[in-house]
Amino acid sequence: MSKPFIMDHPLIQHKITLLRDKNTGSKEFRELTNEIAMLMCYEATRDMPMKQVEVETPICVGKFNVIAGRKIAFIPILRAGLGMVDGLLSLVPAAKVGHIGMYRDPDTHMPVEYYCKLPADIQERDILVLDPMLATGGSAVDAINQLKARGCTNIKFMCIIAAPEGLAAMEKAHPDVQIYVGALDDHLNEHMYIVPGLGDAGDRIFGTK
Ligand code: URA
Repeated sequence: MSKPFIMDHPLIQHKITLLRDKNTGSKEFRELTNEIAMLMCYEATRDMPMKQVEVETPICVGKFNVIAGRKIAFIPILRAGLGMVDGLLSLVPAAKVGHIGMYRDPDTHMPVEYYCKLPADIQERDILVLDPMLATGGSAVDAINQLKARGCTNIKFMCIIAAPEGLAAMEKAHPDVQIYVGALDDHLNEHMYIVPGLGDAGDRIFGTK
């Protein structure tokens, strides 16, 4: 089982603190979410395979590294995961994007899937599942169940803030999935919000509250 990778880089921590501030408006919140995703992508793609190609510099011909043609897919969990996609695409523009729609039943707090549209060759791709908040872990566990049911094997998960409860649920259900975390918070409150957290990430990204 891989340990969650907690990103303690000062740039990521600084931007997450700005996200937490309740006075940060939607425009800045969206920009920060994408910037954090982009910074986290740097680490999450560290093991991308390389190959050598021949290039002629102004001085001589040499062999140099480029990313090998392995395929990658970003799968945001709707809707808050959408807020991370542009940041990732700015670093990996050739990636395909699939979508899984989940909502949390307000009474049971259980995830309900209402949408799933994935690239046709999803089984052949390295997959990065995205959700800014890993709270109970229900949506992430369920989204990854859906991907595995479709034959996907090489799956990673990226969130900006995690609760210990969500990490435990993910590690129990999907010990093979490497998790990338911007900040590990304290606990969930009685409404299943992360404390201290940043509130409802979807509402803050889309200005729906
Ligand atoms: N989803 C959010 O957007 N925020 C939380 O604190 C928990 C789940």
